[in-house]
Amino acid sequence: MAYSFSQQLLDWYYKNKRDLPWRQTDSPYEIWVSEIMLQQTRVETVIPYYERFLAAFPTVYDLADANQQQVLKLWEGLGYYSRGRNLHQAAKMVVDHFEGSIPSDYNTITELKGIGPYTAAAVLSIAFDKKHAVVDGNVIRVLTRYYGIEEDIRSGKTKKKIQTFADDLIPFDKPGDFNQAVMELGATVCTPKNPLCNQCPLSSDCVAYQAVKTETIPYKSPA
Ligand code: ADE
Repeated sequence: MAYSFSQQLLDWYYKNKRDLPWRQTDSPYEIWVSEIMLQQTRVETVIPYYERFLAAFPTVYDLADANQQQVLKLWEGLGYYSRGRNLHQAAKMVVDHFEGSIPSDYNTITELKGIGPYTAAAVLSIAFDKKHAVVDGNVIRVLTRYYGIEEDIRSGKTKKKIQTFADDLIPFDKPGDFNQAVMELGATVCTPKNPLCNQCPLSSDCVAYQAVKTETIPYKSPA
């Protein structure tokens, strides 16, 4: 089951993935910048910001040397400015404490400002081929539907359960592609409203699809 989930998903991803600028690099720094910008912000919005940012700060040393005004100027319009401030501070830390190399293990990378469980898993898997499963809103939607999880996604217990499922599914081979594939499926096919189940590589094993529950799963209690 886990094999068929990841295999079918990866086959779908390689045929359908969008050609995004951060998918054309192996640079941990560039992948890190992309994952910070992609938190809370749509792909189409991020692209021009990402390109301007890397043109201004091509390496982590350039970013560490910049002044905060320059960094925030390039963040203008993206929102959540603490992301930009934290990224800048973290770049200084990478230069001062890690000889300019982004740490490649979980405990060290999460010492950096602005790098929580999501960003750590994304960067470690995509840039370093480490088997850390990402759980974001897209992943939550795909997995609750696939497994028919009807519990409240606000609850910590439910989130833990979803993380466990994701940890079990992620393959040793290509963990970064797997993470990006689940996010891509959630963004383009397994959408919150009117999901395109007839285009989904997982629909034949998807509990929500089979039970006609895609409109009620994931369930989120009123705030
Ligand atoms: N959302 C966050 N990171 C992403 C990525 N690498 N690909 C697609 N969507 C994303």
